[in-house]
Amino acid sequence: MRLLKDRRAGDSVERGGAVVTGAGQGLGREIAIRLALDGFTVHVTDVDGARAAAVAYEIEQLSPGHYGRPCSAFASTLDVRDAAACRAAAASTVERTGTLEVWVNNAGVFYTGPVWDVTPEQRQLMFEVNAHGTINGSLAALETMRPATHGHVVNIASLAGLVGVPGEGLYSATKHAVLGFSISALGDLRAAGFRHINISCVCPDGMWTPMLYDKLEDPHASLSFSGALLKPEDVAERVLDVVHKPRAVTALPAWRGVQVRLLDQLPGLSVRLMPAILQISRWQQAAIARRRHGTTAPPHS
Ligand SMILES: NC(=O)c1ccc[n+]([C@@H]2O[C@H](COP(=O)([O-])OP(=O)(O)OC[C@H]3O[C@@H](n4cnc5c(N)ncnc54)[C@H](O)[C@@H]3O)[C@@H](O)[C@H]2O)c1
Repeated sequence: MRLLKDRRAGDSVERGGAVVTGAGQGLGREIAIRLALDGFTVHVTDVDGARAAAVAYEIEQLSPGHYGRPCSAFASTLDVRDAAACRAAAASTVERTGTLEVWVNNAGVFYTGPVWDVTPEQRQLMFEVNAHGTINGSLAALETMRPATHGHVVNIASLAGLVGVPGEGLYSATKHAVLGFSISALGDLRAAGFRHINISCVCPDGMWTPMLYDKLEDPHASLSFSGALLKPEDVAERVLDVVHKPRAVTALPAWRGVQVRLLDQLPGLSVRLMPAILQISRWQQAAIARRRHGTTAPPHS
């Protein structure tokens, strides 16, 4: 595992409690590990409680942390579709750590296909987990953070939250909902005078996590492979940067954020260019599939 950047060396403080949803694997696991190394006591949650427990155990084995303090984590089963369970997770974090400083809404699910082919069950699940789950988590966190008058909610959206994505239309709709909710809620906080509660959205490009492992042969997922296929550990590093320096929206990588925002500003042109863009992205996807040679190892090298 890559070590945290030196600029944080010497920061050996106890930072308080942090919750990460969907932290049993993929990006959530990487974020949980880095928050723990950075001094947070991490409440590792996932709908798959066994995987969450395994990550918490892994974190505890990392101790002593890089800056001389032991890494600390505990786990629970949390289905983000359950608003009451999200509130209970916030309460148990405060009970265990004394404070809730950070809540990362990371849990997500992904189904592809033309919008008319995604089944009603898949559509409902994506909206319940990606959109409502993020809202449930955010509101649970704010219920604790508002009386404390400080805290930070970090919502993992996607570049698909910044632009329409053929083949991923319903997923894209859920991530647009995350952006719309988060920026509006941040405005609500400022209007209500909360200066020290932040909501940040992180919008990564395609990332090599279990979410994409079965999508290399899926033509509808090709746009997830059209840019810089990211490593979850690199994205988690950037999430940690955002935890320390709140920012309403961070696109990863930044150049892809510029690209997709431009396409979003010119929807007519982007739809006309789409057949060519899709063709190029399918070539890129096929090239990555060839490099992968039937393994789940990162296809970057
Ligand atoms: N992988 C990508 O290409 C990519 C790109 C941009 C954004 N994202 C987003 O990043 C986040 C993390 O995704 P990942 O790539 O690590 O995917 P992943 O599939 O590896 O991990 C998702 C995790 O969410 C958990 N989860 C699913 N439903 C849940 C529920 N109802 N309650 C709680 N947990 C639940 C799963 O058990 C799993 O541990 C997601 O929000 C995803 O939409 C992923």
